Amino acid sequence: MKGIILSGGSGTRLYPLTKVTSKQLLPVYDKPMINYPLQTLLSGGITDILIIVAPDHAGDYLKYLGSGKDFGAKFTYEIQDKPEGLAQAFLIAESFMDKEPVALILGDNIYEDDFSEIIKNFKSGAQIFVKEVPDPERFGVVRFDEQMKALEIVEKPQEFVSKYAQTGLYLYDHTVLDKAKSLKPSSRGELEITDLNNLYLKEGNLKVGLVKGEWVDAGTIDALYKANEMIYKKKQKK
Ligand code: G1P
Repeated sequence: MKGIILSGGSGTRLYPLTKVTSKQLLPVYDKPMINYPLQTLLSGGITDILIIVAPDHAGDYLKYLGSGKDFGAKFTYEIQDKPEGLAQAFLIAESFMDKEPVALILGDNIYEDDFSEIIKNFKSGAQIFVKEVPDPERFGVVRFDEQMKALEIVEKPQEFVSKYAQTGLYLYDHTVLDKAKSLKPSSRGELEITDLNNLYLKEGNLKVGLVKGEWVDAGTIDALYKANEMIYKKKQKK
């Protein structure tokens, strides 16, 4: 399986911290943020990793991550010129993916869970990971029936759907590229990961896993603070 870390965007919500470097390189306790999603992929045995970055501060990634040798991995880089959706990652990654299954993780998502076995055992279809949140309107949200069978995913629902947000780790088989190519931009002008996942769901090929431990999408100041606290506490326990 190959890996993609999507580390685009301009980090406007973290300004002025993001004036001199990228959001995903800001410190989370003792390491740059991107270390954590990178570790999630590495622990699953994924070492061939594409890092997709925004044009601003792209050089900082090369400086920090380099060839990947220091991490026991091989890194490739691509630029996402504009933040036009998470699913755009697959169009950018077409030649890199080479018809193999792929794990996509967002460069600002930090998990406590260990996904290594799930990643290693992934075979076909797609798998997403949901977490109960107090503010589901900020995310893609999964609607379930009484048996907890997923019915659909709704991006940033204005009316209550459920409390289960899809988080920033996604596993896909090689059909993801054709599916991503079939997507049309949403009303916010993005190729939505939610639309992509709904295609797998309609085929009956989407697995929904539960995130058991803590999860932070560190895109805001408060979330960044929470992420620091989460890692700090984890280090104290050791
Ligand atoms: C994106 C996805 C959303 C998902 C979230 C996870 O949101 O569109 O479905 O729940 O990542 O972090 P965005 O970062 O575009 O607000």
